[in-house]
Amino acid sequence: MRVIQAGVGGFGSSWVYALRDCGYTHVALIDTDPEALCRAGEAVGVPPERRFTRVEDALERVDADCFMDVTPPHLHALTTLAALRAGLHVLVEKPMAVSMTEAQEMVRVARERKRVLMVTQQFRYYDQPRTVRRLIAEGHIGDVDHVVTEFQIQGLLFGWRQRMRHPFLMDMAIHHFDLMRYLLHAEARRVMARTWNPTVSNTQGDMNAFVWFEFDGGVRVNYTGGFASPGCDTGWNGRWVITGTRGTIIWNPRDDWGPIRLFRQNADLSRYTEQTFFTPLPEVWGEPIPAASIGPQGHHHNLHQWRVCMESGREPETSGRDNLHTLAMVFATMEAADSRREIAIAHDIEP
Ligand SMILES: NC(=O)c1ccc[n+]([C@@H]2O[C@H](COP(=O)([O-])OP(=O)(O)OC[C@H]3O[C@@H](n4cnc5c(N)ncnc54)[C@H](O)[C@@H]3O)[C@@H](O)[C@H]2O)c1
Repeated sequence: MRVIQAGVGGFGSSWVYALRDCGYTHVALIDTDPEALCRAGEAVGVPPERRFTRVEDALERVDADCFMDVTPPHLHALTTLAALRAGLHVLVEKPMAVSMTEAQEMVRVARERKRVLMVTQQFRYYDQPRTVRRLIAEGHIGDVDHVVTEFQIQGLLFGWRQRMRHPFLMDMAIHHFDLMRYLLHAEARRVMARTWNPTVSNTQGDMNAFVWFEFDGGVRVNYTGGFASPGCDTGWNGRWVITGTRGTIIWNPRDDWGPIRLFRQNADLSRYTEQTFFTPLPEVWGEPIPAASIGPQGHHHNLHQWRVCMESGREPETSGRDNLHTLAMVFATMEAADSRREIAIAHDIEP
């Protein structure tokens, strides 16, 4: 597959190597930073005449099959739409766009041109979340009742992230929101939220959020997230406690007891007549569940799936169309936080 990559500095530099390692051939690179262009060009053997500072020039002068968009979010619509209109399949970094209108236009054009538009929500493309989803789907904890998710890290953000109104929701929580949809195999219907910017943050916009979602079937999700939490590090996935009618799954990659633990609540509750607490014994912290291997993970899984979809015409799991529903959660959460109202999340959004 011949690929053009836009945005090769910052996070794009990791995609340069991932694309190369997954058998894609860079035929052109685009970046406004000449040093980043030069570094990436040297790494993957793209000569100076095929290193560009403008997307239009690369699309006009170089033949390719597909396009990787790792530019800052406010440029995604412009960049990705140009590539789709030039007849290329696109893998675009999250967030796919900075407004629903832009994202819908991207999905519409991809469909019209019959091109694969995929979004890099790679958090779900790892062994552990795929095993957690399977455990839930197989009914090991009965019907899901509620979920508690905690993510805390101290992050110092720079550049465009410092100027966003909601850098945390838009740039980070979007991964966790996408994971919620994936793990529960359901959509969020309502949201309440508070966001704020602690004094230990270095951004203009809000870095911490307390969010409450109601998913299909009344499943409640309580999400605590923050990039301004000195001394905390839950890991990028965060810590998940998923409680159902017959047990609980704890997914916490940092947990000494094992990243995935399953507690089965098999007791006949009707037999108890006195106050009872089912505190796990120290030696029985649930059943550790090994995560089944899915083969290539993260970026590599994204790239493998993108290729299969381009070759077969199949829709990727994290297609642009699917991702509209993750974006809807992000925008509704921002609205809930800014208006201090409970917001219904619309899902009749596919163009
Ligand atoms: N999936 C993830 O886990 C993950 C992690 C980090 C970043 N990202 C996403 O990747 C994207 C880029 O983020 P980043 O951290 O690399 O940002 P960045 O600002 O560090 O890097 C962006 C790159 O794009 C270049 N650029 C800027 N304007 C350009 C233009 N007009 N044309 C071509 N290139 C241009 C910059 O010079 C820079 O090299 C964002 O959408 C971000 O959310 C995703």
